[in-house]
Amino acid sequence: LLPQNLAGKRMLVNLGPTQEFWDPVRVLTNNSSGTMGASIALAAWLLGAEVSVVAGPVPSLWLPRFLDVISVSSALQMHEACLDIASNMDIICCTAAVSDYRFLNSPREKVKKSELGSNLVLELQQNPDILFDIGKKRRSSQFIIGFAAESCNIQSEALRKLKDKNLDLIVANPVNMSDCGFGSSRNMVFIADAYGRQESWPVLPKSEIGMRIVEWVMDSQV
Ligand code: C5P
Repeated sequence: LLPQNLAGKRMLVNLGPTQEFWDPVRVLTNNSSGTMGASIALAAWLLGAEVSVVAGPVPSLWLPRFLDVISVSSALQMHEACLDIASNMDIICCTAAVSDYRFLNSPREKVKKSELGSNLVLELQQNPDILFDIGKKRRSSQFIIGFAAESCNIQSEALRKLKDKNLDLIVANPVNMSDCGFGSSRNMVFIADAYGRQESWPVLPKSEIGMRIVEWVMDSQV
């Protein structure tokens, strides 16, 4: 029998990249695989949580059909889907690699290269920060987890985001290590909570990191 420590708890996990279309064929996105979010969702579900996943486009990611999966494409769609249900959740984990920008003007028809010339300038507009908005509206009884992909000053940047985004837990990983993080099955993280506990973990499979994060949430007596 599994210990059902998270029975009765509702959890939201967002994962994967977002896609910002310029015209019907050109798109601004990234290569997030959704693996880290899926590992956390699965670990929480195994421990009895009722898990909702808001997923960006992750065609090759397998998710068990027991999870409630809402599929979205753009950052604005992900923002709406997450904010709609966030207030009903006990635990919220934002692993998604959300595009910070979208195109200001999006032509409805495919734009011909011959119309564009050899240099093209496209104007971008900032997307809302989903995690920040969830943290702003939070109840103190909720437990909110954010991620931070950093290329330098990992620990100080992570601690700044923990505070600025009103989180309980931040998980930060370097983006400049080969075979680690984005698009990989392994990761190396610095993890810190709002109550003074901090740890640096070695390179581990994302499945193990997912379970360890969920254990941390349970230790925090959510
Ligand atoms: O500020 P930064 O983008 O580094 O923060 C990363 C964290 O914020 C991640 O948890 C990510 O899911 C979340 N985020 C978000 N909406 C954005 C940008 C980042 O929810 N527009």
